[in-house]
Amino acid sequence: MSSVLIDGIGSLLTNDPSLGKGPLGLLPDAALVLDDGVVAWVGPRSAIPEGAAAERVDAGGRAVLPGFVDSHGHLVFAGDRATEFAARMSGRPYTAGGIRSTVSATRAASRQELSRTTAGLVGEALRSGTTTVECKSGYGLTVDDEQRSLEVAAEHTDELTFLGAHVVPPEYADRPDDYVDLVCTAMLEACAPAARWIDVFCERGAFDADQTRAVLRAGVARGLLPRVHANQLGPGPGVQIAVEFDAASADHVTHVTDDDVEALASSRTVATLLPGAEFSTRAAYPDARRLVDAGVTVALAADCNPGSSFTTNMPFCIAVAVRDMRMTPDEAVWAATLGGARALRRTDVGHLAVGARADVVLLDAPSHVHLSYRPGVPLVAQVWRGGVATG
Ligand code: NIG
Ligand code: FE
Repeated sequence: MSSVLIDGIGSLLTNDPSLGKGPLGLLPDAALVLDDGVVAWVGPRSAIPEGAAAERVDAGGRAVLPGFVDSHGHLVFAGDRATEFAARMSGRPYTAGGIRSTVSATRAASRQELSRTTAGLVGEALRSGTTTVECKSGYGLTVDDEQRSLEVAAEHTDELTFLGAHVVPPEYADRPDDYVDLVCTAMLEACAPAARWIDVFCERGAFDADQTRAVLRAGVARGLLPRVHANQLGPGPGVQIAVEFDAASADHVTHVTDDDVEALASSRTVATLLPGAEFSTRAAYPDARRLVDAGVTVALAADCNPGSSFTTNMPFCIAVAVRDMRMTPDEAVWAATLGGARALRRTDVGHLAVGARADVVLLDAPSHVHLSYRPGVPLVAQVWRGGVATG
């Protein structure tokens, strides 16, 4: 694999405090060498090693940062819900029930169609700087359809989550506990080999505390790692259950009590906030400031799905988090990179120290602050994934 020297970096965000200033490890006038898929050297331009790399890219004083780590996505589905979105924007509320219409479209779709859609979304994400993306099942909700969703997802990413417990499908409407049993037995058996994570939508209208615990327990017993959709639409037990299971992440975390915040702060569980969901459901945003100030580790993710958040764009999420969730530009960029890595319990991505995966974004801007300062502007000029230039 060829090596690349990125020279002339005006502002390099390493996310490694030992390499530069502050928690973001910012280095002015820097350079970066990518070799064999990883970061081989990082430092000031004045100290670039002799004969550092075969190819030289001039950043021209612009900013470079790690690729975004989007730790929450539902990318295997068919159809869209534009009509539902339009109805919401004229006053209808968002409910978990809409998920079922995507379930029937997904079941009816061919594998090729699903794969095409997923590839399109992963490509779209990559062009806006996302180099790691998590993908959940959850729109199949039969043994075969969930397994198929994970197989399709596996063609496009390694971060795979079994979300059979997304909602109770219509055929089980009058016997939800039988559906939970199915998720915990045959569906889990079929899906666990393809997945790394187990997730549950713990919410009124989806799964209650007992059902959530049953699914997480079964998943963990089968070797999967827990994460939880928690406290999105209203207060509930999701955050506490996530902490109880030492989940890598509690996601949404919009409606929380002081006890929830305290539980997160004294745990390893990351709070993954999903600004696209509140934006697209016109709901109140989670209070990131309250979480950060309490010492909670916060990640930002896109939550791309056709119902509540049909975006793959992490710069958009950063801008909303800064404007409406009271994060600073520095906190939001950290949350979208190293925060995402923490939410996936990954140490190889989200930062640019020597040995990290060479996932790198060059911005058409002098600093990472422009990601929130210039909302909606496509600032991503170049992306390397595993050291390979994309696009
Ligand atoms: O994370 N909250 C549950 N799942 C998705 C929404 C899925 C849908 O509406 O289709 C979410 O927002
Ligand atoms: Fe989700």
